[in-house]
Amino acid sequence: MPVAPAADPTPDLSTSGSPASRRRHAPERTLVGIVGGGPAGLLLSHLLHRSGVDHVVLEARSREEIEHTHRAGILEAGAVQVLVDAGLDRVLRDGSRHDGIVLRFDGADHRIDLTGLTGRSVWLYPQTDVFIDLANQRAADGAYSSGGADGADGSGGVGGVGDVGDQVRWGATVTHVLDGGNVDGGSGGAVGSDSGGDRPGVLWTDRQGDTHELRCDVLVGADGSHSTLRHTLPESQRRTFVHEYPYAWFGVIVETPRSAPELVYTASEHGFALISQRTETHQRLYFQCDPDEDPARWTDDQIWAELQRRVAGPDGFRLVEGAVEERSVLRFRSSVVEPVRHGRMLLAGDAAHTVPPTGAKGLNLALADVVVLHDVLQTWLASGRRTGRRDDTVLDEYGRRVAERVWRAQHFSAWMSGMLHSHPGETDFAARRRLAELRMLVASESGRRFLAEGYTGWGPVLGEGAS
Ligand code: DHB
Repeated sequence: MPVAPAADPTPDLSTSGSPASRRRHAPERTLVGIVGGGPAGLLLSHLLHRSGVDHVVLEARSREEIEHTHRAGILEAGAVQVLVDAGLDRVLRDGSRHDGIVLRFDGADHRIDLTGLTGRSVWLYPQTDVFIDLANQRAADGAYSSGGADGADGSGGVGGVGDVGDQVRWGATVTHVLDGGNVDGGSGGAVGSDSGGDRPGVLWTDRQGDTHELRCDVLVGADGSHSTLRHTLPESQRRTFVHEYPYAWFGVIVETPRSAPELVYTASEHGFALISQRTETHQRLYFQCDPDEDPARWTDDQIWAELQRRVAGPDGFRLVEGAVEERSVLRFRSSVVEPVRHGRMLLAGDAAHTVPPTGAKGLNLALADVVVLHDVLQTWLASGRRTGRRDDTVLDEYGRRVAERVWRAQHFSAWMSGMLHSHPGETDFAARRRLAELRMLVASESGRRFLAEGYTGWGPVLGEGAS
């Protein structure tokens, strides 16, 4: 469906545009504008495409850049169902189903039988692969501009706007958020605005520095934890709930065969370690570190020594060692923004909430958000078809429906983190109390089931909701 030009006058960018601005293209119009082309933005794009809804995705990074970012690897049963229902079933072939996890403490393994306790499994399938599947599917559906695999390269897609071939644009950086014709450059031209009007939009620049204007009926911020759209919510109406942690994870990709068949979450007197897997030849390992740790100052031998002493026990368990190929520090932060709707601007995924990595809930929450958001957008569009005027109060359903799952995941991630990590400066009492909690948890079927229910994700995303 072609995108009609926006009717309102184009603001003059000579004062508020980026200095690199060279050309200004005619404004374009779409129904749903999506800022962010990570898994959340691309899943929404894919679902909207399947529903025949006109939309545009703007992503600042290139496809390659996103593909080379390592992220967590566990998909809940419900998230796998979402992908399969959306026609993306590579996870069933290339992912690996896990029916249990191991909690390791007191130097011994304590298996949690996820499937026996809940009837559900999880899948080890890294976020990168979810992104690749979505990006490939969108490419197969012709969603990239005529420039080829990487759009927004100035070679096309912006002049002849609006068909499927322009739906996903890489290298497209949002510089301003617009509200009904007003540009608010914020201070010094930074992104900022009141985007709560009924015709939100954005100004964005392509890789050539040319500026474009996109107007939409609804604008979705799926632009990650550093979301620019989130900051356009008026502060007076925004509440942010935040929890900071005094520890982080040192994450490595190592070239070795697997050391264990299932994930091993280890609590030791030297701190936490997580043994995860990737392929026959590469594994993903993490160990607790200081948030300001510099990964470059560690030799491979030091990294292995640290991991080995955390997993060591009377059972003689040892990790298979090999070359450390990649390393980085992952910071911990829990945050929730409320509300997730301002006028016709909505936030999804990490833009709306972040969790610490323990339990790998971030991507699962983002996919669940998008499925609910797509459902609510369908109802909202239908309300317009029925009455001639869309009922914006329908959009509030989105926040109401995702809140329960978001806060469950917040609790679960914070709880698992607190139980398994040693806190810097922790008293002997606190350390013993944590150990008592772990021992009670594994000794009790109710305790194991509570953990298993949270780990596998509380059931389907739609339908029964987060029950
Ligand atoms: C992985 C990451 C996690 O945060 C987690 O809880 C489990 C697995 C991973 O990257 O494999």
